[in-house]
Amino acid sequence: MVKMIRLDFESIRDISSSIDPERMRAKAEEAQRILEGRTGEGSDFLGWLELPVQISEGEIHALEEMASSIQKTEALVVIGIGGSYLGTRSILSALTKPFTSKSLPVYFAGWQMDALYHKDLLSLLKGKKYFLNMISKSGSTLEPALAFRFFWNDLEKRYSSKELQELVAVTTDSSKGSLRKFTDNHSLPSFIIPDDIGGRFSVFTPVALLPLAAAGINIRKLLEGAAEMRMILQQTQFTENPALQYAAYRHSSYNSCKKIEILAVYQACLGSFAEWWKQLFGESEGKDGKGIFPTSVNLSSDLHSLGQWIQEGERSVFETVLDIEEAGELEIPYEAKDEDHLNYLSKRKLHDVNRTALKAVLKAHQSGGVPCLRISLEKLDEKNLGALMYFFMYSCAVSAYMLGVNPFDQPGVESYKKNMFRLLGKP
Ligand code: PA5
Repeated sequence: MVKMIRLDFESIRDISSSIDPERMRAKAEEAQRILEGRTGEGSDFLGWLELPVQISEGEIHALEEMASSIQKTEALVVIGIGGSYLGTRSILSALTKPFTSKSLPVYFAGWQMDALYHKDLLSLLKGKKYFLNMISKSGSTLEPALAFRFFWNDLEKRYSSKELQELVAVTTDSSKGSLRKFTDNHSLPSFIIPDDIGGRFSVFTPVALLPLAAAGINIRKLLEGAAEMRMILQQTQFTENPALQYAAYRHSSYNSCKKIEILAVYQACLGSFAEWWKQLFGESEGKDGKGIFPTSVNLSSDLHSLGQWIQEGERSVFETVLDIEEAGELEIPYEAKDEDHLNYLSKRKLHDVNRTALKAVLKAHQSGGVPCLRISLEKLDEKNLGALMYFFMYSCAVSAYMLGVNPFDQPGVESYKKNMFRLLGKP
């Protein structure tokens, strides 16, 4: 199994007992053939498959150049929603220190339409020289478009059009959409989201690479991890291929009426990662009346809220646990008086206690009828995260093909838009 990540099917037998594992394997392999052979639905959206391997030195260099000019400002505002921001936010919160980070402050806007949030962000940035990175593939998504209007309006009042060209960069389609037109009209620097890569598969494009590089993340290592994972997933057989195994396991769970998958994370900094994962699987698989519902818990805190449901509620769930083997050395101090009766833990590492909780929870959930899979990562760094994200993207595509749905479209999101635009009186 791959070095960077390890899969432990803690209770695979529970699942495979009702389903023929050989059939699952054959189905996963067939789905992989469809994916790699580019013969399935949505095959014109497979640009992400080779991207980490094929991205050129020139492209990386251009991103790093722009990133270093962004670093000369006081903050970066990233405008985007869904696939146009979730990957960036998840990597950033996984890899930057929550309180003492010295890197450029990054703020996210346009990922919802909350007036309180945007008003406060605008007032925080009042008079500051910040950089604006507007990201939208279609260029027409309402939430980011509105946020862009606010921030552009703020900068336009304070800077000349020449100066704006140094403070705003747009990441969008190469030729289509009103944002592309705007970008060209104002001669703003821009980065391209390739035609053959959809939002939730765009984490290794400038969508995330530019803001991440500006925030001091080593994007070369991120791509290196993804490229290594690409080679592994392309070249290994089922028994050594974590993505095929994960997809087969999910499919077998689904067929055993376990239709909700809970991603459990034990690090505060992985909460956003779970949001990225939910979008990836939810938007890719939930269609044609099919699909596993992806949800997540932050443990151990959610053991004090949702833990009861997981342990004893309806038995329709299975759990995928992200286990980070090394994280933050913090030793529990010895207290002579032991007033809190915690000396039995003194001199032990807080992270070890956290991982012991993880093991205890796994056991409890399994005995409560929740099949569990543990995905272990040695530590959180750029390379491992790149590998992990590529692994999930690949398994997601395989898993969707196993279900018989197109992983790369999202026709369902149009329904609310039609209603909203009608109510808003859009001409
Ligand atoms: O995965 C997707 O395609 C979507 O989640 C999009 O990323 C999201 O709707 C934002 O779209 P756009 O980048 O066109 O504004």
